[in-house]
Amino acid sequence: MEKKFKRTTVTSALPYANGGVHIGHLAGVYVPADIYVRYLRLKGEDVMFIGGSDEHGVPVTQRARKEGITPQQVVDRYHKMIKDSFEEFGISFDVYSRTTSATHHQFASDFFRKLYDDGKLIERTTKQFYDETTGTFKTDRDIVGECPHCHAEANGDQCEKCGRDLDPTELINPRSKESGAQLVLRDTTNWFLPLNEYEGWLKEWILEGHKEWRSNVYGQCKSWLDMELQPRAMTRDLDWGIPVPVEGAEGKVLYVWFDAPIGYISNTKELCESNPERWGTWQQWWQQEDTRLVHFIGKDNIVFHCIIFPVMMKAHGGYIMPDNVPANEFLNLEGDKISTSRNWAVWLHEYLVDFPGKQDVLRYALTASAPETKDNDFTWAEFQARNNNELVAIYGNFVNRALQLTQKYYEGVVPACGELTDYDRETIAEFKDVKQKVENLLDNFRFRDAQKEAMNLARIGNKYLADSEPWKVIKTDPERVKTIINISLQLTANLAIAFEPFLPFSSKKLKGMLKPLDSLSAGNISGVSSGTAALPPTGGDGEGLLLTWDRLGSIDLLPAGHQLAKPELLFEKIEDEAIQAQMDRLARIKKENEAANFKAEPVKPNVSFETFEKLDIRVGLIKDCQKVKKSKKLLQFTIDDGTGTDRTILSGIAAFYEDPSVLVGKRILFVANFEPRQMMGIESQGMILSAVDFDDSLSVVTTTKDVKPGSQVG
Ligand code: 2FM
Ligand code: ZN
Repeated sequence: MEKKFKRTTVTSALPYANGGVHIGHLAGVYVPADIYVRYLRLKGEDVMFIGGSDEHGVPVTQRARKEGITPQQVVDRYHKMIKDSFEEFGISFDVYSRTTSATHHQFASDFFRKLYDDGKLIERTTKQFYDETTGTFKTDRDIVGECPHCHAEANGDQCEKCGRDLDPTELINPRSKESGAQLVLRDTTNWFLPLNEYEGWLKEWILEGHKEWRSNVYGQCKSWLDMELQPRAMTRDLDWGIPVPVEGAEGKVLYVWFDAPIGYISNTKELCESNPERWGTWQQWWQQEDTRLVHFIGKDNIVFHCIIFPVMMKAHGGYIMPDNVPANEFLNLEGDKISTSRNWAVWLHEYLVDFPGKQDVLRYALTASAPETKDNDFTWAEFQARNNNELVAIYGNFVNRALQLTQKYYEGVVPACGELTDYDRETIAEFKDVKQKVENLLDNFRFRDAQKEAMNLARIGNKYLADSEPWKVIKTDPERVKTIINISLQLTANLAIAFEPFLPFSSKKLKGMLKPLDSLSAGNISGVSSGTAALPPTGGDGEGLLLTWDRLGSIDLLPAGHQLAKPELLFEKIEDEAIQAQMDRLARIKKENEAANFKAEPVKPNVSFETFEKLDIRVGLIKDCQKVKKSKKLLQFTIDDGTGTDRTILSGIAAFYEDPSVLVGKRILFVANFEPRQMMGIESQGMILSAVDFDDSLSVVTTTKDVKPGSQVG
């Protein structure tokens, strides 16, 4: 039997505060979570939406080292940047705090101490790499050495060249990334959570009890549970984090994956303590059986949220378990994995500079191609098409036509609905189903399909207007047009409601056009709020003007005689130039990455001086340079080689010099005794030396002084 829950705690993965937020984060976690909580709030359910920054862990210390600043400075900077980005995109957290807060440190420390005091942790001494020059233990990612398989330089956890997972002890000649010093193995004691002791319980709870979880989530849990679980270290030898609250554990901190999920709870505590009347106690949201817990995360976080964090809570005792963990797969960008270190991403703060006011367009495009069941690709071409062909051409177009016709025929006043035709009834029946369909899909975390259903309403509207042709009928049967426009306006109002969880900014704008503020009574203000931390709407205003979720599918949302505001366009076309600018940016980044990764080819086998001397390399002055007719590749050079007679040399580099005349007057190097060759009926008397760049582009080699033509090179 379906359990009855009184409230829902929704968490979204706490992003590491060592960089900004990009479209992968938004599509994978925050937009779906936001749609879900907005939907629950609109239904009048009691929900808390928890976010925050994950501010401990090695990536933060690495960034600090790279930039020569402290870890605290790193997290201060990025916490603010991330929080601002979320706010701008309407991610409607009830609380967004951070794991460096005093409340969190205390909470996580107490949580650990209880596990320790209750004997739920095991103490183990293991050997770990130690840097004697800095007096610190090294984590896997801080170690480099030679890969035992392909002999490339590899990180302690993985070799990027051959792709193998590594244990740092396998590395040949392991060194510290930080200091470059040789590392030695040293004993260290840490505290482990014996995951293996919870295997039976986990199998029962997940594999038997949650067959309804997404197949990617269930499948990943199953493969973890099919292998034997091992005790996992919950503390680390590091100096950035929450100190381990045990005597003799100086220099050790809690494992970042131990403290981060506890951040969800400590953030709840902060919120409850700031407004206990609204939120009650944190225990209600984490420990009461009538609370439903849902974690929104990316697929790389599944094991932490489905196995490790639940075991932590189980070992502690008193906590509820997640009811669902709707993890997404990954979003790629233009065919390549999104990567912070390679800057292969669309950053939210940069998007807003390039596309101001278009938050909903990105929300829409990301939900439309959300990686719900498999990895998916974001392309700028698709983004443009989603905007131009769907938001503008379907949703915006319908709404605009309905509102403009109302202005034109009735000066913006909703006309009365007359007698319905069969076709009117069919249309109304179609959009009455939408509420049920959207709810079913959202209840099952199928956000892509739910958004499609909302868009379907606009398709129904466009078809209805196109079939009913009010612009023609107005000449013959003006009474009938009133009904057509009334139905179109009811549909428009339904669209404002249906899109509210997905496109909060556009719904707010549309509601503003339908329900100008001066027509509102104080009691129905919540009907136009964006939903951000607002209490759910509580009731009607008696005038049938409330555009609330419960009325989705109704055809009496706007009463006859109601005055609408002046219509404005909901969406604008995105031009090719704007998309090209994004593609150019990505091409630039790709090139920079290739340049950064460039490694010189291995040097060829040695040659003797005698062999080298056989080549007669000279300086030549380019007197003329032309493209060879009928050849895409060849340039014909006329060279002053110092002999008094011009020399002709052909070179296959036309692709790199759009305008070959730029080469005239340059002094280049050429092999003068290169065997003459016939090409395209011309004799080439030598070979021009060129440098091939990392991206296979090319440059002729010139001299830095005006050396006389014919001078020898050697
Ligand atoms: O993968 C990440 O970005 C982690 N910072 C997520 C942490 S989720 C939670 F446990 F806080
Ligand atoms: Zn390797």
